[in-house]
Amino acid sequence: MDAMVQSSAAPNPWPGCDGFAHHLLEGLRKTPKEIACKFFYDSEGSALFEAICALPEYYQTRTEVALLRRHAGEIASLIGPGAQIVEFGAGALRKIRILLDALASPAAYVPIDISGAYLRDVVRLLAADYPALSLSPVIADFTLPLTLPPFLPSGSGRRVGFFPGSTIGNFRPPAALALLRRMREHLGGGGLLIGVDLVKDPALLHAAYNDSAGVTAAFNKNLLARANRELGAGFDLDAFAHYAPYDLHNRRIEMYLVSAKRQSIQLAGETIHFAAGEAVHTEDSQKYSIECFREMAVRAGFSPRAVWTDENRLFSLHWLES
Ligand code: TRP
Repeated sequence: MDAMVQSSAAPNPWPGCDGFAHHLLEGLRKTPKEIACKFFYDSEGSALFEAICALPEYYQTRTEVALLRRHAGEIASLIGPGAQIVEFGAGALRKIRILLDALASPAAYVPIDISGAYLRDVVRLLAADYPALSLSPVIADFTLPLTLPPFLPSGSGRRVGFFPGSTIGNFRPPAALALLRRMREHLGGGGLLIGVDLVKDPALLHAAYNDSAGVTAAFNKNLLARANRELGAGFDLDAFAHYAPYDLHNRRIEMYLVSAKRQSIQLAGETIHFAAGEAVHTEDSQKYSIECFREMAVRAGFSPRAVWTDENRLFSLHWLES
């Protein structure tokens, strides 16, 4: 299956490495240092992320999957027949199967993911299981302006966005609002099914991002491992610590890589200095209340309709009409 490949409109001075070197250098020259979380997802990172989803401490995936299964019939009737589904950050293409199995004759599926080799592999598996579905994978960073493949003729069903996994939480609220607005423009007349992680006991949140098997730490450090693999950088993975505290005031997990000592790293011909204890910010995971998320959806121009949550109020799934 051919996947449509899209890259940023800005000139990329590092062709062949997806702008990773450029972003890495730019982020590590800043004070405080940062690396954008989208670079987690090369093939190794996507596989590590799948391992996170299966961790006992990581309640999100199993809770969201259970919600999708429990309410699949109702969701399918809200969406209607012949739907054309666009998934933003499609990953392993597991959750979409629950929807596809419940929907009345879904017409088209457009999985968008930044992890190209990974997307190609999982799309092949999906295509074998859903031969009647028109599949148009797009390898792209969905945070940049996107051109989606042409939709089927109008009348064939609704355009529906699918954005599970609380990926919306990986954006700061102003960026999350802007992203929702752009999604709404793509989905005119349809709707968005979106998973949003909820504010809860900080101890549960802390455990979810600091698992005892160290998989989240390995996922975080994959940024450095990837720099070693792709750019020949000299990061010593043991000289950086995974640190992911919950910020009670801002209601978000913040993820960092912390330099265990004073050190210098060679990267694409440049020397980057780290002080002992210096942190590189790698990701946020914002938590919402149901009300607060629905307010944001309204500000983005959506009409929030149904919302489903589990009995422990760990996670929420929202159906927003555009
Ligand atoms: N969006 C999910 C979350 O915020 C998944 C995720 C992204 C994640 N990056 C992560 C989970 C890093 C654990 C660690 O939880």
